[in-house]
Amino acid sequence: MSEKRIGFATRLGAIAASVGSAVGLGNIWRFPYQAGQNGGGAYILVYLLCVLLLGLPIMMSEFIIGRSTHKNMRGAVEQLTPKSPFKVFAYVGVLGALLICGYYSVVCGWVLEYVVDSGEGLLLGHTPEQYSEIFNSLVGAPQRCVLWTLIFLALNFVILNKGINKGIERMANVMMPLLFVLLIVFCVNSLMLPNSSKGLDFLFSIDFNGLGWKGVVDAMGQAFMSLSLGVTCLITYSSYFSDDNHLMKDAVTISSLDTLVAILAGIVIFPAVFSFGMEPNAGPKLIFEILPTIFQQMPGGVVWAVLFFVLLFFASITSTISLSEIPITFLIDEYKLSRGKAIAITAVLMTVVAVLSALSFSTLSDVIIAGRNIFDFLDFVGPNFFMLLGGLVTAVYVGWFLDKKVVHDQLTNGGKHSARFTHPYIIFCLRFIAPVAIIMIFLYYVGII
Ligand code: PFF
Repeated sequence: MSEKRIGFATRLGAIAASVGSAVGLGNIWRFPYQAGQNGGGAYILVYLLCVLLLGLPIMMSEFIIGRSTHKNMRGAVEQLTPKSPFKVFAYVGVLGALLICGYYSVVCGWVLEYVVDSGEGLLLGHTPEQYSEIFNSLVGAPQRCVLWTLIFLALNFVILNKGINKGIERMANVMMPLLFVLLIVFCVNSLMLPNSSKGLDFLFSIDFNGLGWKGVVDAMGQAFMSLSLGVTCLITYSSYFSDDNHLMKDAVTISSLDTLVAILAGIVIFPAVFSFGMEPNAGPKLIFEILPTIFQQMPGGVVWAVLFFVLLFFASITSTISLSEIPITFLIDEYKLSRGKAIAITAVLMTVVAVLSALSFSTLSDVIIAGRNIFDFLDFVGPNFFMLLGGLVTAVYVGWFLDKKVVHDQLTNGGKHSARFTHPYIIFCLRFIAPVAIIMIFLYYVGII
C-alpha cells in the first residue's frame, strides 16, 4: 500500500538534511587531497568558479524539478512534460546512487573501524610506515572490511527506517551543527601548531603552474561530487521540501556551507601536514595514514583522533542516507511500495554492491573492470560518468525543455519574491555553460582534448 508523503517538518530541517547530504567524505577526505595534488590555491579558485557557474544552477534545476511536483525524477518528468524521454534518466540516477553508495559505504566502514581503534588507543605510538601497514592490513582483510561495511550499512538503514522527519531530519539537525563546532575546534588547533602558516600558504597562494587541464577537470568533478549533483539526490530531497522554502536562498546556503566545510577541512589538514614535515600530495591515504601520525604528536591525541573520525562518520552517514533515499523514494513513488519494503529492497541491492567493493582489495582483487578493481571502477564511474551525465541531463531539461513558467514559479514561490537576476543567471548557466563544460569533461576523459 502506498503511504502518505510526509515532508521535512521545517525549512531548517530541509536545509540541514541537504547540507548533510552535500558534506561528506567528498569534503573532508577528497577535497583536501585533490587540492594538495593540483596546486592548492589555483585549484580552489577554479573549484569556486565551478560551484558558482555549474553547481549552484544545477542544484537549482534539481530543486525546481523536485519541489514543483513533490515526486521522484521519473514521476516529476512525467507530470511536468508528459511522454518526455527524459524520465528514463531517473533509472540512471537510481543505478548511480546504488553503485556510489555501495563503494562509499566501504570507506565509511574504514572510518568506523578507525573510530573504534583510535578509541582503544591502537592508533598511537607508530611510525608513519606502520600507519601505512595498519591501513593496508585493514583494507586487505576481507572479513574485517566486510564486517565494518555491514555495520555501517545497518546503522544507515536503521536511521532511514525512522522516516524523513524522525530519522533523516532529526539526525541532520543534531549532527550538522556538531560537525561545524568540531571542525572549528580542529582548525584552531591546527592553526596554533608551529609552522602552520606554511600550510595556509600552500592552500591559498594561487599558482596556476600546478593546475593544468587535469586540475580543472578534477575541480569540476569534485563540485558535482561535493554538492551531491546528478544522481537525482536533490530532486528526491526537494520533493520533500515545503512550498514555502525559498529555493535560491536555500541553494546558496547549502553550497556555501558545503564549500566552507571543504575549506575548513583544508585548514585542519595542511597546517598540520606542514607542521610535522609531511607531504601534502599523499593522495587518498592522507586521512587514514597521515592523520594518526599527526594526532599522536598532539597532547590528548586519543581524544582528537576519536573526535576526528566520529566527525567523519557523521559527515558520511548523512551522505549515504541521502544516497539511499533515492531508490527508496523511487520505489515508493513508482511501485507504490511501503517505506519498509522499499528500504528492504534498497538495503539488499546496496549490500551486494558494498560487499563486492569491500572485497576488491582482497578476495576479489583479481576482478578487473576497465583496468581497475571493483572499488576503483565504481569510484571512477560514479562521479565521472553517472553524476556528470545526470548533471548534463537536468541542466538541458530545465534549461531547454521545461516550461519557463514552472521555473519562474519555483524561483519566486508563485510570485512572492523577485527573480529578476536569478532567473536569467540560472537559465543562462543551464543552457550554455553547464552543457559545454560537461561535454568538455567527457571529451577530456576520452582523450579528445
Ligand atoms: N556529497 C557527498 C560528499 O561530498 O561526500 C557525496 C554524495 C552524496 C554524492 C549524495 C551524491 C549524492 F547523491
